[in-house]
Amino acid sequence: MYHPHDESAAASPRERGAVSPDAGADERQIEGALRPRALDEFVGQQRVREQLSLVLHSAQRRNRAPDHILMSGGPGLGKTTLAMIIAAELGAPLRITSGPAIERSGDLAAVLSTLQEGEVLFLDEIHRMARPAEEMLYVAMEDFRVDVVVGKGPGATAIPLDIAPFTLVGATTRAGMLPAPLRDRFGFTAHMDFYTPEELELILHRSAGLLGAPLEEDAAREIAGRSRGTPRIANRLLRRVRDYAEVRGDGRLSLDTARAALELYEVDQLGLDRLDRAILDVLLHRFRGGPVGLSTLAVSVGEEAETVEVVAEPFLVRSGFLARTPRGRVATPQAWAHLGLTPPPDAAFGAAAANGASPAGQPGGVATP
Ligand SMILES: Nc1ncnc2c1ncn2[C@@H]1O[C@H](COP(=O)(O)OP(=O)(O)O)[C@@H](O)[C@H]1O
Ligand SMILES: [Mg+2]
Repeated sequence: MYHPHDESAAASPRERGAVSPDAGADERQIEGALRPRALDEFVGQQRVREQLSLVLHSAQRRNRAPDHILMSGGPGLGKTTLAMIIAAELGAPLRITSGPAIERSGDLAAVLSTLQEGEVLFLDEIHRMARPAEEMLYVAMEDFRVDVVVGKGPGATAIPLDIAPFTLVGATTRAGMLPAPLRDRFGFTAHMDFYTPEELELILHRSAGLLGAPLEEDAAREIAGRSRGTPRIANRLLRRVRDYAEVRGDGRLSLDTARAALELYEVDQLGLDRLDRAILDVLLHRFRGGPVGLSTLAVSVGEEAETVEVVAEPFLVRSGFLARTPRGRVATPQAWAHLGLTPPPDAAFGAAAANGASPAGQPGGVATP
């Protein structure tokens, strides 16, 4: 089973296909080398960069720790990279932990009480933190205080402990899962979007330079187009193409080499991988294009609902293959076409509903029985 957020427990990208947005264990090391270190080096996300730059610089002018920062966006879009950049731009030490690592409030108290003044605390997958720890985090974020509970039962007392002013940088793939009181305590939320093919090309050229790989223009364009708008995937495909060029070719990363390598790794023209194709396949063949509920769809492809929702769906929706309607997931005409199929005359089309051609819940062209 594959968990989208727990990188240590995630199946290797090879098992999941080359375009899984999650990093495998050995991949994280390589990623470290490719990470931009300064805001200026960070490609794309123009708005987020500008906003962030303002937040950081104004805090520095006032000589205070900046507001807490929340980053939301799918896996591989640069949240961890940005957290590291925030600390670097502030010249502050960085402490890294994650929601799943905080099982008890005591785990969090141990981290909070040892923070230095101005330190940046990066809390990855913050939506997966244990509930009791959340309450403690509220107080820490607002008042820079933790209440340490001593003893048990009726005799237990809470001893307030001051902690150093710090900046929390939270990252989540599911902002909607954060309780409102937690969300409200962030002064700034950065929404990370998918990258354009042009931005991915820039990232690819930058990475190729760092890897010393001679990447040609049209090869970069080809790889960018198949990277699902995700830098992590772009960097991974680049390495696959480089491997292929070294072993089977003359070392040059040309368009032909790129195509042959991507073919070998089953990444199609649009970057759809096996999970994406399985979802479309099930949706079209078993459910006649939908609508079908998320959990039913997930069970049918043997994945967890969260994986389907966080990893596959956003890209399928953005590519115009799938629409979320109040009645469930619906395949678009484009999805039928991509799989070379003709939709049945009574097929529901999410595209019409999604682009507003008909009221939500009443997909166009469907006579609701
Ligand atoms: N804007 C960007 N510019 C250049 N490289 C990026 C950018 N965003 C992400 N990357 C690269 O993609 C990889 C994954 O980014 P990461 O920050 O780990 O994603 P996330 O934490 O959102 O899953 C990193 O190796 C990083 O080098
Ligand atoms: Mg990360």
